[in-house]
Amino acid sequence: MALYGDIEVRGDNPFLLFDEWYGDAAGGISGDPSAMVLSTSGRDGGVSSRVVLLKEHCPGGFIFYTNYDSHKAAQLADNLNTALLFYWPHRGRQVRIEGIAEKVSAEKSEEYFISRPYGSRLGAWASRQSSVIKSPAEITDRINTLKSRFGSEVPRPPHWGGYRVVPCLFEFWQEGVNRLHSRLRWRKVGEEWHAEMVAP
Ligand SMILES: Cc1cc2nc3c(=O)[nH]c(=O)nc-3n(C[C@H](O)[C@H](O)[C@H](O)COP(=O)(O)O)c2cc1C
Repeated sequence: MALYGDIEVRGDNPFLLFDEWYGDAAGGISGDPSAMVLSTSGRDGGVSSRVVLLKEHCPGGFIFYTNYDSHKAAQLADNLNTALLFYWPHRGRQVRIEGIAEKVSAEKSEEYFISRPYGSRLGAWASRQSSVIKSPAEITDRINTLKSRFGSEVPRPPHWGGYRVVPCLFEFWQEGVNRLHSRLRWRKVGEEWHAEMVAP
């Protein structure tokens, strides 16, 4: 075990620590640690952030699901560089991740899509995410039409699926006394992960 300020680290990569902190965050009052801020940027240099839910993570990457016609997807089509941010205030912790996004396979998106509730599956067809609408009735009308079109078997829309963010940088931030917070950064160099402390 190594100690970086107030952060205890086991192993030679950031994934074990992420798992540990993710588990700790789930045990707190906020309940759901999976909400993360996803930042993307387009060809014009504009940057955009929004919350999405982390559905799966492993050393291979961090997966979320969304609409492939959305604003975020348009920015990802321009630029695959992505940042993720978790903030777990009840633990005094923040985790920043930077990496490259890629689409998950159609089979993987399919597998997750069919596990979603009926209403969410219809919603994925009905809502053209990020497009301008005149009123919410546009979407409810479309849902009613889709109900009779699909019945109970709602297939995955081709414009809906997952992205996997493959990390090349992590930063773990632990709140400390007198603003002497601990910051531990892991950078991927070749196939190895290097840990270094950063001033708060
Ligand atoms: C708690 C929370 C969870 C969300 N989860 C997702 C999600 O998993 N996928 C998604 O596409 N949008 C999710 N959203 C909505 C996004 O924040 C955003 O409004 C939407 O994806 C459109 O973003 P865009 O126009 O930048 O593409 C979530 C919002 C909140 C507040």
